[in-house]
Amino acid sequence: MTEDTYVGAIDQGTTGTRFIVFDHDGEVVANAYEKHDQYYPEPGWVEHDPMEIWTNTKDVITQALGWADIGPEQLAAIGVTNQRETTLLWDADTGTPIYNAIVWQDRRTTERIETLEENGAVETIREKTGLEPDAYFSATKAEWLLEEADPIKMERARPSDVRDRAEAGEILFGTIDSWLIYNLTGEHVTEVTNASRTMLYNIHDLEWDDDLLAEFSIPETILPEVRPSSDEATYGTTDPDGFLGAEIPVAGALGDQQAALFGQTCFDPGDAKNTYGTGSFFLMNTGDDAVESDHGLLTTIAYQRSGEDVQYALEGSIFVTGAAIEWLEDVSLIDDPGETAELARSVDSTDGVYVVPAFTGLGAPHWDQRARGTIVGMTRGTRREHIVRATLESIAYQTRDVAEAMEGDSGIEMTSLKVDGGAVKNNFLCQLQSDVIGSQIVRPVVDETTALGAAYAAGLAVDYWADLEQLRNNWRVDREFEPEIDPDVADQRHERWIDAVERSRG
Ligand code: G3P
Repeated sequence: MTEDTYVGAIDQGTTGTRFIVFDHDGEVVANAYEKHDQYYPEPGWVEHDPMEIWTNTKDVITQALGWADIGPEQLAAIGVTNQRETTLLWDADTGTPIYNAIVWQDRRTTERIETLEENGAVETIREKTGLEPDAYFSATKAEWLLEEADPIKMERARPSDVRDRAEAGEILFGTIDSWLIYNLTGEHVTEVTNASRTMLYNIHDLEWDDDLLAEFSIPETILPEVRPSSDEATYGTTDPDGFLGAEIPVAGALGDQQAALFGQTCFDPGDAKNTYGTGSFFLMNTGDDAVESDHGLLTTIAYQRSGEDVQYALEGSIFVTGAAIEWLEDVSLIDDPGETAELARSVDSTDGVYVVPAFTGLGAPHWDQRARGTIVGMTRGTRREHIVRATLESIAYQTRDVAEAMEGDSGIEMTSLKVDGGAVKNNFLCQLQSDVIGSQIVRPVVDETTALGAAYAAGLAVDYWADLEQLRNNWRVDREFEPEIDPDVADQRHERWIDAVERSRG
């Protein structure tokens, strides 16, 4: 392999799309990003325009390659990583989405999930999928699209019955990885980590589950083929007559949280990371063992390499962390997320204020679809600095809740946690996290670990990187944070946080 080849990764997240080019050392060579619009057609509904996402994907690839003066033929492979669970259907003939993508945060199918308790399906779903039945996952979103989506209103696709057309094989289902790979290569595939978030995939038998397809009335004809996360056979190649003008293998894909686990080189059982994005997602590798949680965590697929066994993880999915900072901006308590650290530092404590940002219900380990955002403990003396600090603290407390569940399930005491995601640039937050959780926090040099993980999956498949050891050697510490407060004080504050969580429940 010559020195001037690279691996590119598309990181399609909840708020925007990034393309990063990495070299052999796992260093960033080029990086471009574009935001996309968020649609909230009704309270609790969240949608994205799949065409906008695809257009932005092409734009960021073109921009990143252009700025770094890299020709597409210098890319040895492309990897894809994506916001998980977000669901769409598209027309198999024209490739046009029949409706907007329904985003993972969307709550429109809450009532449908509640009916699963009545018909006794909850335990079956837990056993087969490792998931806690919730509107978060793809199954009820796909069911809604088949039953309720109105392509005429969206001025999309042919105006006839969506379900009939799906059963006739004219409609395809996908999560965002499938959508991007379909547009890049023309192939209708997904990969195991994304499949494991649909609530339709049996994570033990490694196949779409007939009972679950029947429960949610999903015709098998619409489903993509499930492939390894790092696939030597590749998912396909880009069209040389298409936008890149070159034939590049698309050889790796991972849901974004699993990609961050891979990018942090958490390859061994017990290795864990927490990613701070719109939400926070804390994953621990459990190797060949699909560990069942007794503490409100999910069992999920971590990754699979061609010809090898699937590796599993325990996951604590926290729905709102970075999005709580966005909310502070929306309600004009801050002008810019960059000022949160200074405002929080300007007061010694929150003065008893707790913010529970349960805007879209509570995820792990509390699981309450009907919980809502709550502020407790305000007095006449409460200032915006206290609320800003309490919002930052809510990120750290939610992580502690998940860390405790993780220790309970795995029996492994957490002494050190690798972190990544946009918010970890904030030293105040990293220190706060270390204080609240009582363990060391380790920030790596390359904080774009999500894209890096997807690049690694693709690069391993085409032998750009030889093995996992080579990837481990690329990983380097930027900074470590050690707990600085009395653990008893941390425990007392955490107890009051738990009281506040109880008051947010629906
Ligand atoms: O499960 C949802 C998660 O994949 C979203 O991640 O980084 O787009 O907020 P992010």
